[in-house]
Parts: sequence; structure tokens; C-alpha cells
Amino acid sequence: MIPFLDLVRQHESINDELFAALRGVLSSSRFVLGPEGEALEAELAARCGARHGIGVGSGTDALRLALAALGIGPGDEVVTPAFSFVASASTVLMAGATPVFADVDPATLALDPDALERALTPRTRAVVVVHLYGHPAPIDRVVAVARARGIAVVEDAAQAIGATWDGRPVGGWGDVACLSFYPTKNLGACGDGGMLVTNRDDVAGHVRRLRHHGDSGRYHHVELGYCSRLDDMQAALLRVKLRRLDGWTEARRRLAARYRERLAGLPLGLPAEHPRARHIYHLFTVRHPQRDALAKALADLGVGTAVHYPLPVPGQPLFGDRDERRYPEAWRASREVLSLPCFPELSDAEADEVAKAVRTALERL
Ligand SMILES: Cc1ncc(COP(=O)(O)O)c(C=O)c1O
Repeated sequence: MIPFLDLVRQHESINDELFAALRGVLSSSRFVLGPEGEALEAELAARCGARHGIGVGSGTDALRLALAALGIGPGDEVVTPAFSFVASASTVLMAGATPVFADVDPATLALDPDALERALTPRTRAVVVVHLYGHPAPIDRVVAVARARGIAVVEDAAQAIGATWDGRPVGGWGDVACLSFYPTKNLGACGDGGMLVTNRDDVAGHVRRLRHHGDSGRYHHVELGYCSRLDDMQAALLRVKLRRLDGWTEARRRLAARYRERLAGLPLGLPAEHPRARHIYHLFTVRHPQRDALAKALADLGVGTAVHYPLPVPGQPLFGDRDERRYPEAWRASREVLSLPCFPELSDAEADEVAKAVRTALERL
């Protein structure tokens, strides 16, 4: 059996360093808003080309606090892609604002800037742009559209730490960017965690307050805040992993290149990599019109796969929009996408086995 993802392999390879990091936090016993968290904030902000990093409880909270710090609330509209993980849109609801969906580019499944322009209204206050699967969205165009209309750009970089567009890292283009350390992410914690990065001093200061009960100093609560901080245990573990991240990303890219070679010429859609983009292959997601049958055939051949995502966001029961004509690319993607195993510890031999199984499975359809 080749698993879709095996985190045990990752943790076994750095076991000693992880335990040493945890022991360090225990001996200092500074668990919340301590030195490990601060160091991680500085390291990740620098990687994203941003001045500030603010650790929070999850990627979802990063999005929620970003919208709150930008002053978005009831009566405001926020444009968000019709194809993503639900949090890219549910956090707009949490802010009390209205998500307005825009369809995605069929090649990269990123927000289509033309669809973004069509979705804008006088009430639009922000756009959440998602770097889906680790492939950057055309962020320069999104920023240009937003700047021309005076609306804010929130980059949802939950799946894309280390990806670049025109050689510049994602996360430093918009007003604020959100990272997730959910365990399965390329930089995954051993629990939940997230971070905002931003070049805006006002947003950084506001988020620092919001994550800690709206506290402006020692027990002076100037507004309604949240309790959402990245703890030092997670930060210490993440710092160990961060030292490995570039090597892991290279391993993912090598596996992706190997899949491309081995799967070439098959009746199967391979993930696009735009010439201006550096994809970090959080997911290697192929497309086929008989996706469910292909997944079943692969399971029978001992290959684990996953579907990201089986419904477009507006089609989720939470939003309840079943009109497929409104977001045709998102609906088509939701029926066709299938993610293959692609994690740094997957061996070349296993990747070859996966590719062989895909070939066999396609013949059986
Ligand atoms: C695109 C996207 N946005 C937001 C999130 C939310 O992150 P978290 O699970 O850390 O809350 C995730 C991951 O789960 C995601 O993939």
C-alpha cells in the first residue's frame, strides 16, 4: 500500500531534534507569546518578504483576524474564489460580511482576475486570493485590479509557503497574507497553528491586539478581541521543520517532475505550472472526467489518493448555491480533481509504482 501521505516518516527522520526543541520550551516554561513564537514570526515574515509575522491559533484564525483588522464587517462584500478550502469563504461569514464568489482559471484553478473584475460592486472591500495546491495565483494582476479599485488584498497562502510568482515569494504581495500550519501542510505543526504576515504596520499592530483579547498593553482591553495565539511548543517544532523546508520543497518538485515524465501522453490532466510561477506541490492534483472510478481503481491497486475538493465552495451546503452555470470551472474541477501521493519522504520507486498504477487504472476504466 502506498499511502496518500505519511507524516510518521517525516517525524521519525527528525525525532531527536523535535524532542530537543520541546525540552527547550519545557525548561524555559514560556509557553504563550514566548521567544520561540517570536523567532518563528521573524523567520517566516522574512521568507515571505514581509516586515511582520503574527502567530495565531490556525490558518482559519489568520484569515478571520486579517479581515477583522482590515475593518471588514456587516454590509461589506469580499470576493473569494469559487474553488478552494471552505475557510477562504467561511471566514468572510465569520466577519459578518458577504462572500461573493468568482470562478477560477481552468488551468491553475486560481482566481480568474477577469472573473474578479466582474464580481466587484461598490460594496466590495477586499479580495481573498488563494494560492491553491501550492501554485501561486496571478497575484500581480489581482493586486493591480484591487489597487485600481481601492480594495484590500488578503493572500490565502495556507497551501503555498515558499511558492513564488516572478521570483518573489507569495505572502508579500497583498495587504496581508495567511499561513496555515495544519499538520498536513508543507510546514505542518503537531496540532493547529497559523500566522499572518504583512508589510502594513497598522494591520500588524491591530492583529497583535486582536489575537490577545484586544489588549493594548497590560490588561487594557480597548476592543473586543479573540484568544488565538500560536503557542511556543508548536513554534519550536515548526522552527525545526523550517530548517528542512527548502529541501522538502525540492523533493516535492523532483517527485512532480518524475510524475510528469511517467504520466506524459496519458488521457489525464496534469497540474499546470505557469512560466512565472514556482509551484511547491503541496498537492499534485491530476484531472480526469471519471475521477471517482479512477480513485477506486487506484485504491484497488494499493495507491491512496484524496479529493481536494468534492464540491465548489458555493455548492457546499453552508452556502447552498447549486446553480452550476454560475461557476462552471469550479464545478467541473470538483468532479475531476484527484490528488496523488506527493510528500518529501515518498521514494522514487514508490512514485514509479504510483505512475504505473495510474496507467493500469486508466486502461481499466
Ligand atoms: C486554502 C486554505 N485556506 C485556509 C485553510 C485553513 O487553515 P487551518 O486548517 O490551519 O485553519 C486551509 C487549510 O486547512 C487551506 O487549505
